Amino acid sequence: MGSLEAEPAGATGARMRGRRCLVTGGASGIGLATATRLGAEGGSVAVLDRVDQPAGLPETSFYVRCDVRDETEVERAVSEASAMLGGPPDVLVNSAGIYRVRALVEMTANDWHEVLETNLTGTFLMSRAVARALIDARTPGAVVNLASTAALAGDPLEPSGHYAASKGGVLAMTRQMAAEWAGHAIRVNAVCPGVIDTPMLRLTDDPAGAARYLEWAVPLGRLGAAHEVAATIVFLASPDASYVTGAVVPVDGGATAI
Ligand SMILES: NC(=O)c1ccc[n+]([C@@H]2O[C@H](COP(=O)([O-])OP(=O)(O)OC[C@H]3O[C@@H](n4cnc5c(N)ncnc54)[C@H](O)[C@@H]3O)[C@@H](O)[C@H]2O)c1
Repeated sequence: MGSLEAEPAGATGARMRGRRCLVTGGASGIGLATATRLGAEGGSVAVLDRVDQPAGLPETSFYVRCDVRDETEVERAVSEASAMLGGPPDVLVNSAGIYRVRALVEMTANDWHEVLETNLTGTFLMSRAVARALIDARTPGAVVNLASTAALAGDPLEPSGHYAASKGGVLAMTRQMAAEWAGHAIRVNAVCPGVIDTPMLRLTDDPAGAARYLEWAVPLGRLGAAHEVAATIVFLASPDASYVTGAVVPVDGGATAI
């Protein structure tokens, strides 16, 4: 019988050699693991985040500070990243995101806008800026958007309707981008992580509750690791996924299968 435990970060090839990669939210969690894996597979990597002093970035990566909610900053950051990478990013990973817990009846309009602006508007602004640059340069590309299993099912225990709506929007926008940009050879896919052990996760604040949840809701019976999501993202960004666009891939230990 095989083990259900996470394997260490996988063996790396050179699938991303010659690729110019831009990872938003790359200072932490899934974005950081993805930037690391893209670099290990031969890509040139620019990391974008809103923090002043990111720690632990891959040594060869470039850092661009940007708040993805701000249209002007996004335009500037994509130009800056293009200059650093030697051309427009042909891989964009939209991992910047925030998570908040609040019941819908208690939610203020500000709560709602904060989450939608980061997770949905930020993904739109970044993708539009990169797609425009790729289309102008007649260069093919791949975008991978971070959605969530929260986009696929409601959750009465940890209510976050604004977050779920933002990620549902990301899925709809992923399909629309895939349809509109296929003619420019730009593929667009989404991953839906389940409970992944990163600074964003709230479940681990309550270890006993987390253990119960993992037992009844996650067939693999454990949290996911950031590098396991990164491996799927890098597959979707790589030439191995050359016929995959508009797809939604859960990375959730089987949570949405039951
Ligand atoms: N961890 C999970 O269990 C989980 C589950 C489902 C989906 N996700 C999604 O995966 C993505 C990455 O999550 P994570 O767990 O790595 O979170 P994380 O908190 O570890 O990292 C998110 C990063 O995004 C950055 N960020 C936030 N707002 C920003 C902004 N306005 N501009 C620029 N950068 C900004 C943060 O500074 C941080 O570095 C998110 O979109 C999240 O919604 C995570």
